[in-house]
Amino acid sequence: MTFPDDFNWGAATASFQIEGASRDGGKTPSIWDTFCETPGKVFGGHTGEVACDHYHRYQEDIKIMKDLGIQSYRFSLAWPRIIPGGTGQSNMHGIDFYNRLIDSLLEAGIQPTATLYHWDLPQSLQDNGGWANRDIVQQIADLATVAAENFGDRVANWVTINEPWCVSWLGYYIGVHAPGIKDLDSAIAASHHTALAHAEITRALRAVRPEIRSGITLNMTSYRLDDDENPELLKLRDLQDSNLNRWWLDAQIKGEYPENLVDFYGERLEKVVKPGDMDRLKIDSEFLGINYYSDSFIGTPTEQQVAKNEGTFIFPINSNGEPPLPHTDMGWPITPQGLEHLLVRIHKDWPELEELAITENGAAYGDEPDENGKVNDERRVDYLLSHLASVSRAIDRGAPVKSYYYWSLLDNFEWAEGYTKRFGIVYVNFETLQRIPKLSANVYSKVIASNGSVLEHVKKS
Ligand code: FCB
Repeated sequence: MTFPDDFNWGAATASFQIEGASRDGGKTPSIWDTFCETPGKVFGGHTGEVACDHYHRYQEDIKIMKDLGIQSYRFSLAWPRIIPGGTGQSNMHGIDFYNRLIDSLLEAGIQPTATLYHWDLPQSLQDNGGWANRDIVQQIADLATVAAENFGDRVANWVTINEPWCVSWLGYYIGVHAPGIKDLDSAIAASHHTALAHAEITRALRAVRPEIRSGITLNMTSYRLDDDENPELLKLRDLQDSNLNRWWLDAQIKGEYPENLVDFYGERLEKVVKPGDMDRLKIDSEFLGINYYSDSFIGTPTEQQVAKNEGTFIFPINSNGEPPLPHTDMGWPITPQGLEHLLVRIHKDWPELEELAITENGAAYGDEPDENGKVNDERRVDYLLSHLASVSRAIDRGAPVKSYYYWSLLDNFEWAEGYTKRFGIVYVNFETLQRIPKLSANVYSKVIASNGSVLEHVKKS
């Protein structure tokens, strides 16, 4: 058996990336609407106004999933649809959209997995500091209460926050994601507030429905050094590992932050951690969601990089130690064995985690329909199969992986890259909004139907 009998095969999306209808049904602007309107932030000035128009075409998308045999669908709730003011009054139009979506999924025999926060923060909350302002913790816990009250009877699995590292560091330090702030104190505050928010969201969901299963989704990687003997590089690697892989896990499991970062942040962190916070961080979650795209390579920083980062450790990932490898259209190296390595490491370092879910894994390739209208995305097929083989080897080595969600069901709005990077197993024509399942969709469908056993030959090779 390559995968356990009850293994869960899914596909993932996120509200802002697919829904469109950015002003329909009482929805207010999110920080991504604002970011898209800010010149120079998003490729080609692309916006989320129409996206895949999933808001109006969700039935068609569910039919595609049903035909492929997809067993669960991870989507996210747009906060500005549900509570347009960010806090206070909830909005029946927005809630009804998700009710229709969830009911249609269940009718099609597809399990809904809801992500509470996948980056589309109401702009009004950002106007008060967003994730850098501690008020966000209570505000998002209130959103969780509304979500559990309205959807908790039908949605069993909840992701609290998607990739808090990206929220904090891409949004508030590097500034390439909304809200586009570049400030170390804000990023450290956001790192703490997202960790605290995960715990408070979990409590809020449980207070409404104790049977809800939830977990945070982290983007994780294995760091590889071009010189394993260099003490400076090892120190850099450990700081980056703490910043990306350990921060939110140590918080929820141990009620601690990694010591090397606590020392590094010093007073900046002390300013935002209030008495009692460290106890509140600790929470048992039913699963951990992992988003994996590639390993990261760390080479000796150039003088320029050191100067640019004013002596702090390097953000974003310093990739000058990278060996020649094939890349996806994102420029990300293809390292399937890294997923096995990461899963085994997680199982070893945090044995408390009883269930791991791959909540995202996928590749961007720009294949277009050929003269027969077929999209032969063979490179995506290779990526998918090699990464699944890696998951299966990790399971053989004891990692408790119970689900896999391919990113993404549809080609969609890829954040700062706009519509130029296609991750879907389903092609979307952004002019006509026509959907065409790609070769990878058909291959994934066979993988699902055989519960992974069509992978045997990949696994052995
Ligand atoms: C992840 C995001 C997801 C998608 C993929 C490619 O960081 O969670 O929304 O954009 O990257």
